[in-house]
Amino acid sequence: MDTQQTPYVVEAEHFAVGYGERTILHDITTKIKRGSVTCICGGSGCGKSTFLRATIGLVPHKGGQVRVLGEDVNALDGEARSAFLARVGFMYQNGGLINSLTVLDNLKIPLMAHTNLKDDVIEELVYHKLAQVQLTHAVHLLPGELSGGMLKRAGFARAMVLEPELVLSDEPSAGLDPVTAADLDALMVRLKEELGMTLIVVTHDLDSIKRIADRIVMLDKGYVKFDGPLDEALQSDLPLVKNFFARASKEGHPGVNSLWQKLN
Ligand SMILES: Nc1ncnc2c1ncn2[C@@H]1O[C@H](COP(=O)(O)OP(=O)(O)OP(=O)(O)O)[C@@H](O)[C@H]1O
Ligand SMILES: [Mg+2]
Repeated sequence: MDTQQTPYVVEAEHFAVGYGERTILHDITTKIKRGSVTCICGGSGCGKSTFLRATIGLVPHKGGQVRVLGEDVNALDGEARSAFLARVGFMYQNGGLINSLTVLDNLKIPLMAHTNLKDDVIEELVYHKLAQVQLTHAVHLLPGELSGGMLKRAGFARAMVLEPELVLSDEPSAGLDPVTAADLDALMVRLKEELGMTLIVVTHDLDSIKRIADRIVMLDKGYVKFDGPLDEALQSDLPLVKNFFARASKEGHPGVNSLWQKLN
């Protein structure tokens, strides 16, 4: 099957996953288009991180189906799984870097695992990605020596180092100052527009959502409660959606939108 031609990067149908006896996502049906940014929203503990992890087959499958980049992720193993993972970048909520390795060595891992490039070329690519998240000064530091925001940016740089078709990013702007958050949002939009990347981003930062989202998927208690374009979400009468945006707007960074306009 020519997966490159699949118009949807994620196709979930009545998809259910959980840990042990516990089902966390009960019934997820959604389609995510190639070359779009989808924001996954919802209250703490509703299963957003679980959704991201499940899309790369990291959470035990309990029902329904999910195809990602045309592949049945729960049926992949060995070389097929490795080839699939080279097409997907994953940024964990806490950055997900290996604590005993420097930022440089952490970012080299995907390139060493999935390419045959020479070490000097690999280092050049790592420096280029770190420059995009303003972190070249941190290249020789260990994760324990980074701030929370630096960890996030290093994690995001690692997720995109292979220029994958799909980037899954868990709260990339949480804990960043407004300027850095706006820069990271601008980078995500550029990755979409210039490289045609698809991004799925867990976030509750309304300013960020307004800057980056084409589509909103709102989860509640393991079900999809809203799935539609950003402007529909902002005008929705559904109490859950209205409350989310009312709260998110209070928590957002005042003044960041004027800053965003200056950056563009
Ligand atoms: N590895 C795990 N083993 C068992 N239960 C887990 C595991 N990871 C998450 N859970 C449970 O799954 C539920 C959903 O967690 P998840 O991390 O997906 O929520 P979330 O929406 O990302 O929350 P937050 O906004 O706080 O990050 C929670 O009840 C959590 O306790
Ligand atoms: Mg989470």
